[in-house]
Amino acid sequence: MKNIVVLVSGGGTNLQRIIDCIRDGAIPNALISLVVADRDCYGLERAKNHQLPTQMISKGSTFSTDLKQILPENTDLIVLAGFLSILNKEFCDSFTGKIINIHPSLLPKFGGKGMWGQHIHEAVLAAGERETGVTVHYVTSRIDEGKIILQKSFEISPDETLQSLAEKIHTIEFEILPKAINEVLGIPL
Ligand code: GAR
Repeated sequence: MKNIVVLVSGGGTNLQRIIDCIRDGAIPNALISLVVADRDCYGLERAKNHQLPTQMISKGSTFSTDLKQILPENTDLIVLAGFLSILNKEFCDSFTGKIINIHPSLLPKFGGKGMWGQHIHEAVLAAGERETGVTVHYVTSRIDEGKIILQKSFEISPDETLQSLAEKIHTIEFEILPKAINEVLGIPL
């Protein structure tokens, strides 16, 4: 069994997707050993509703060291699924190749500090982009700059709204996140 730790800050629909894929066998031989939130959020509730072990560590300068202390020893993969705190260099360096993040843009476009969730969709529309998409990448201490594992794009329609864009992004996230997890865990796509 591969042990996955999921970090969340928001609604947790990507966490839900991972839960569903493990249940359905689309992510085989894996379990979620811990869900960590850096704030009160619905993602934490989802985890509790599924009887998953949860932990709240308030966001702030000690988050990474606190997380390191409670991380199960046999953790194979840490998934940032809508997680908004920045993990420090020491933490990232000790888990090189074991932390992945889902990001709602075609990195390196619209990445970096302050680029998360709705802010990204607003920036993408304001920039008049013709396409956008989703990236799953390894996490390093350089925000949103780690090696790309999977990326999928789509065309932005002329009448695109923030809401329609967010919905399309989620659909693609639900498609590529499980694939990326399987790839990183060594399960063939
Ligand atoms: C997702 O769209 C994810 O890509 C984004 O936050 C959303 C969380 O949704 N992540 C970032 O912006 C990270 N920079 P969820 O809580 O429903 O999974």
